[in-house]
Amino acid sequence: MSQGKIVGAAIASHHPGLFQTEEFRIAAGDGRDSDLVQGFLRLRERVEASGAETIVLFDTHWFTTGCHLVDAGSHYEGVFISDEMPWYLHGQKYNYDGDQALAKICAEVASERKVVARAIDEPTLPRHYATINVVNAMIRGERVMSVGSCQTAATEDFLEMGAVIGEAIKRSGRKAMLLASGALSHKFRNINAVPPHPRIYHPDNVSSDFNRESDYRAIALLEQGKHEEILNRFDQEYRRVPWEAWGAHYLQMIGALGGYDCTAKGIALSEYENAHGTGNIHIWFDVSQENPRN
Ligand SMILES: [Fe+2]
Repeated sequence: MSQGKIVGAAIASHHPGLFQTEEFRIAAGDGRDSDLVQGFLRLRERVEASGAETIVLFDTHWFTTGCHLVDAGSHYEGVFISDEMPWYLHGQKYNYDGDQALAKICAEVASERKVVARAIDEPTLPRHYATINVVNAMIRGERVMSVGSCQTAATEDFLEMGAVIGEAIKRSGRKAMLLASGALSHKFRNINAVPPHPRIYHPDNVSSDFNRESDYRAIALLEQGKHEEILNRFDQEYRRVPWEAWGAHYLQMIGALGGYDCTAKGIALSEYENAHGTGNIHIWFDVSQENPRN
């Protein structure tokens, strides 16, 4: 079996507003749709061009405690309703294959390295919309292995788990794409807050000037591939802002790409947009030059 490879990586938004009707979205956008919707098509083109067989999906809604988890089911099928906002996000049919073999290797590598992680194959395990929305928006037959966000993990622990996944991909023989499903700054507006800008997606509606400016600075660093700089300021800035799931999606993705050594340059595939106060963008990373040390 030839050695597996990471063939692409991206940060992608998954917010529920994107999965409403076009008419609703355009009205919410003051006459223009969210650019993240078209951005999913741009991302899809990149996924297709990458030749990815498996999508490793870092799910910022799958919170775990005391252990990193990777999905080890062979197939997932059903109809998703969000218990967070059932009136808004419901009836989302899904039907996709998991990647049992890769999950099993992740658990083996974790065990070798004494990283607290498990592969979990439990058919009744609930799905989360950080996976389902992104799968429905841009996955067309690739296997999908979701990865949890361990709420007892520190920044370095997420990087370590990412490195486990990077090594597992190598051993698996798979061509895999890493997909970090989540927002940058992730602070919601108050229930009664009136957004200052009539276009709901407008960056002016992000929770605070500080968070918006922090996101803009991060996007500039991501575009330049300056991940070391982001990691060096992670605990002081981005974990406090905080990024969605304390940045579990980004950190595990970068861990798989070599951590502090990663210099993959980002390409924005959407405008930067607000969703209920959070900062959202799709960014593709060119990983062709990356040689992760694992
Ligand atoms: Fe989210």
